[in-house]
Amino acid sequence: MNIVVGVTGGIAAYKTVHLVRLLTKGGHDVTVVPTDDALRFVGTPTWEALSRNAVTTSVHDDVARVRHVALGQNADLVVVAPATANTIAKITAGIADDLLGTTLLATEAPVLLAPAMHAEMWRNAATQANIATLAARGVHLVGPADGELAGGDSGPGRMAEPEEIFEAALALLAPQDLAGVQVVISAGGTREPIDPVRYLGNRSSGRQGVALAAEAAARGAVVTLVAANIAGDVLADARHPSVRIVPVGTAAELSIAMKDAAVVADIVIMAAAVADYRPATVSEHKLTKEQGLLTQIDLLENEDVVAALADSRAEGRAPAGQTIIAFAAETSEDPVERRDRARRKRERKGVDLLAVNLANAEQGFERVDNAVEVIGAAGEVVASASGAKRVVARVILDAARGVR
Ligand code: CTP
Repeated sequence: MNIVVGVTGGIAAYKTVHLVRLLTKGGHDVTVVPTDDALRFVGTPTWEALSRNAVTTSVHDDVARVRHVALGQNADLVVVAPATANTIAKITAGIADDLLGTTLLATEAPVLLAPAMHAEMWRNAATQANIATLAARGVHLVGPADGELAGGDSGPGRMAEPEEIFEAALALLAPQDLAGVQVVISAGGTREPIDPVRYLGNRSSGRQGVALAAEAAARGAVVTLVAANIAGDVLADARHPSVRIVPVGTAAELSIAMKDAAVVADIVIMAAAVADYRPATVSEHKLTKEQGLLTQIDLLENEDVVAALADSRAEGRAPAGQTIIAFAAETSEDPVERRDRARRKRERKGVDLLAVNLANAEQGFERVDNAVEVIGAAGEVVASASGAKRVVARVILDAARGVR
């Protein structure tokens, strides 16, 4: 999607740097349009490096392509963050004395403002009247929050956090095609304890599952995210009012949480890397070399959680129309062999769709975070995607909707 991010002259501009990162990481084409004042806070090189698009404040650059109206016409969304009291007044009056002004007048895309100013300026009758006028025209607002402001004051006027602006932006872009749909997602990697300090684990970061949760929520779904050992900064991307996070550690804990949540789920997505085995005994005390206790670990097989969820559905213990999606990592370079393995795995597990992670996908792609093929019930490739994990999430959820 084409997103214009207008930046106006407030100290909160430094937080917009993170917003631009989130949007580009999400696979969007971002053009930053700062006002001259905004460049006093964060400079052109920063915006250009992050957005990978040229940045200008002037209507007199790139005149041949009628940039002053083209940007607005081609945008799917215009976000202004921070939106100062002055800019809000200018937008209300339709003043177009710079590129941001002309872009806002020329666009028919949704407009999202993230106001930031001192509490007195926010409460001022002029600002409140402007905000009311803009809201009546269909302009969307996120924030401002009540909190600490520049100069040590506090009150309403603090710009919403970048993650919140990002989610509000996505909600305006995303179709609400999953409104009210119950989606349960497992993500991360389980850890099977050996003793109080050691475990058997895997390298799954949980990023793809978190992207699925965020995307589903942006499209209106009610999401339960069963999160196995996901780092806080990764999990932060799933922060959304419609996402309930259930932290788990082991495969057994994940199994209980998933079975509990799946009872009412319309869509179940098993993106977690679940340990196939666990140590047969967990030592209460740290095992030591001196005792020679670490050279051999007896393992027991764990339950296949996703297969158990498919069995529950078959036995009528889940909504009949429930769609279940499993993941598989395949390293084979040969697409025929890879798909054959995937088909067998889908059947064995009794799931509707199997999303195959193409583990060697970086080769030949630029900045590809993930690449998947989704195998359907007849063994056919129903969808494929590569790129940012949020883009891959979008395609997987589209495929899930196709089954229902
Ligand atoms: N899975 C599960 N319970 C397990 C193991 C895996 O629910 N005990 C799920 C995973 O969440 C994932 C899918 O099954 O959705 C992966 O299946 P798996 O058979 O483990 O495949 P791979 O990880 O690709 O490994 P392999 O082909 O080596 O079996």
